[in-house]
Amino acid sequence: MNILVLPGDGIGPEVCNETVSTLELLAKKKGVELTFRDDHAGGAAIDHYQDPMPDSVITKAKASDAVLLGAVGGEKWDHLTGAMRPESGLLKIRKELGVFANLRPVAVSESLADASPLRPEAIAGTDMLVVRELTGGIYFGEPRGRSGEPGNEEAFSTMRYTTAEIERVARVAFTWAKRRGNRVCSVDKANVLVVSQLWRDVVNTLHKREFPEVELSHMYVDNAAMQLVVRPSQFDVILTGNLFGDILSDAAATLGGSLGLLPSASVGGPVGLFEPVHGSAPDIAGKGIANPVAMLLSAAMMMEELQHPEIAAAIRAGVDSALNQGLRTADLHREGKTTRVSTREMADAVREAALSAL
Ligand code: IPM
Ligand code: MN
Repeated sequence: MNILVLPGDGIGPEVCNETVSTLELLAKKKGVELTFRDDHAGGAAIDHYQDPMPDSVITKAKASDAVLLGAVGGEKWDHLTGAMRPESGLLKIRKELGVFANLRPVAVSESLADASPLRPEAIAGTDMLVVRELTGGIYFGEPRGRSGEPGNEEAFSTMRYTTAEIERVARVAFTWAKRRGNRVCSVDKANVLVVSQLWRDVVNTLHKREFPEVELSHMYVDNAAMQLVVRPSQFDVILTGNLFGDILSDAAATLGGSLGLLPSASVGGPVGLFEPVHGSAPDIAGKGIANPVAMLLSAAMMMEELQHPEIAAAIRAGVDSALNQGLRTADLHREGKTTRVSTREMADAVREAALSAL
């Protein structure tokens, strides 16, 4: 199994290091052969190659079995525009790998209920999966542009979806629902956007044709944003487009008290891309205090996808154990209530418990 590791920027390298050594340890114990290759992405790739995602890295990614990515972006590259931005590199690799479905699971464990910004009774029972369309919509839609003179400019982006693009991501959502709570809530803005009207029609048609046994509902995105913070436990699978999914998944992610906990898997092409939902957090980079859990859980999603569910389960058990021991990185630490640990210490605790769970 060949894994391409793209640590990227900010806290990316720190959390990637811990994750790779965790995987190495567990794979060794299981006799699974994992080979890791490293390359640059985002700002690091701009510094190294003058390109946030050079074709050479894409070629390596396509030749791998999976790609683990840390995070991209930072102040150093904020003055860059267009295709030279670190974020463009991320969009390019998503598009090139054809990973049209981004899975962002949000489950709030009991040991973290008091870290949530919501009251414990409001958060109880929250366990959802956001399925975000990842390679289309307004992120990629043409035409787009900016013209005119400073002070008198115009700019536009285009949100477009085709039947085929909607169907394939909806199919992923329905399929996951069948393995979970059997409910899909499709989120759109069909009361205003014509692109959302197509979205809703296609989801309805596919539902009738292929998944009539799954319970389907629809929600406008403004209401969905509110429902996420009022009664998040009502959701099982949320299916939505690229932009709405970006926004809603950050909101959903913080329900657990920290973005540092949330993993993601981008699938649909021959090679999957696994990355935490959080960004590069430049303010805490290099301090050894970042939360490695989101990256570790992203690796668990990767091992599941690579048909090693036992390694995935061990990582998850390791994370649960570390959290249940009261260990918390700075983002989640509560004075007098939890034990504050570094990135390394948190990962060590995960590794130890994961090894004994394997
Ligand atoms: C995410 C990020 C990216 C996105 C950015 C960094 C391009 O916010 O993965 O959610 O908007 O998709
Ligand atoms: Mn985002």
